Amino acid sequence: MKLWGGRFTKETNDLVNKFNASLRYDQRFFRQDIEGSIAHVTMLAAQNIISQDDKLAIIGGLNSIKSDLENGTLVFDTESEDIHSFVEANLIERIGEPGKKLHTGRSRNDQVALDMKLYVRFELQRTDSLLKDLLTVINNIMKENIETYMPGFTHMQKAQPVTLAHHFGAYFEMFKRDRSRLESTYERLNYCPLGAGALAGTTYPLDRELTAKLLEFYGPTANSMDSVSDRDYVLEYLSDLSIIMMHLSRFSEEIITWNSNEYHFVEIDDTYSTGSSIMPQKKNPDVAELVRGKTGRVYGALVSMLTTMKGLPLAYNKDMQEDKEVTFDAIDTANDCITLFAGMLDTISFNKDAMEDSAKKGFTNATDAADYLVGKGVAFRDAHSIVGRLVLYCLDKGIALDDMSIEEYKAISDVFEEDIYEAIKLKTCVEKRMTIGAPGFKVMQEVVAKNEAYLDEE
Ligand code: ARG
Repeated sequence: MKLWGGRFTKETNDLVNKFNASLRYDQRFFRQDIEGSIAHVTMLAAQNIISQDDKLAIIGGLNSIKSDLENGTLVFDTESEDIHSFVEANLIERIGEPGKKLHTGRSRNDQVALDMKLYVRFELQRTDSLLKDLLTVINNIMKENIETYMPGFTHMQKAQPVTLAHHFGAYFEMFKRDRSRLESTYERLNYCPLGAGALAGTTYPLDRELTAKLLEFYGPTANSMDSVSDRDYVLEYLSDLSIIMMHLSRFSEEIITWNSNEYHFVEIDDTYSTGSSIMPQKKNPDVAELVRGKTGRVYGALVSMLTTMKGLPLAYNKDMQEDKEVTFDAIDTANDCITLFAGMLDTISFNKDAMEDSAKKGFTNATDAADYLVGKGVAFRDAHSIVGRLVLYCLDKGIALDDMSIEEYKAISDVFEEDIYEAIKLKTCVEKRMTIGAPGFKVMQEVVAKNEAYLDEE
């Protein structure tokens, strides 16, 4: 059934009907649509715009539609234009006359703005709780690896020794910021557009405060034209998801590298790996690769929506119907990626020996050797140059700083004493990094405890 046949004299072209219809994808938020309608009629009755009896009949009908859709006795037809038309037509079919009053003082423009907002609000909370699970996995790994040494890299070159806890601690911060971004998106999103009508409000004495309250919004939106044409909350959420995906993608890239034969820092569990159809020896990091790959898809949704919105005059334009498919796909993709990534990390094993071995090679303690000289009164710039010569000497001989004899040290600078060996040990290098944010054991213990307190917060 069409909601708008009255002023037409001809049937709509079949292709136009198909092109225009959105039920195939907006059926996803039938619960939100019904929830919004129940709040709307509750308010209409409270304002004496419809009778109590009509309200009860409508709510009864809407609830039965909802349970019939949930248990499969009612299926989405192919005729209805969108979820709003489908529910309203079905309601009228079920309860007759009172059903025709549901849409009093409402337009599909404020209705769809509400439904999408309710849906995004729901999914945003899910993303947040998935991120929290991921953070829990990360912090557990941190807790167990405060003394697991590994090289820290810059330019993909070994730089200075860190620990696995410290490295994972960086990702903890990223996903924690992602959660706070979601929270601030929520803060701006949580105002109710219902009652904005088509664009200019309505002449009925609607109580917009009441509907906002019933739907657990902070309050009603302030301008009716903005209410029906605002999709900022979609863009903000897509941007939050894009940043989450960027973080997951960087993390994936590292896991893939660490899982390579050359690094062998980690081994992804069999349950999170896949094989090759031709090469029997292969065990591939497909989950991490797919997470990295799907990042483009989520960015695509953001760019697509930014582009859809950029030329739209006020107020509602049908272009905005295009918000749904890309947004739903991005939400599903990102939420799946967070879930799978957390599962992969939770089951991964760390090859601590390989990590420590790698940290020992590659002169990650060269800065500490220079700092040692500074401690003996050498200016840092001179110390830097002396250690540079040590490195050159070691490279030539194929040895590490730790392998040089004290005579060899003294041949380059007589400032070196026996205590150089202690000063450049991996343990010393990490232990002495005690500033806020550094990998020192005590500092990391405090970080892990703080993380735990943060995760316990809600
Ligand atoms: N399916 C439409 C959408 O998603 C609902 C709003 C229709 N409004 C209209 N004036 N045709 O945007």
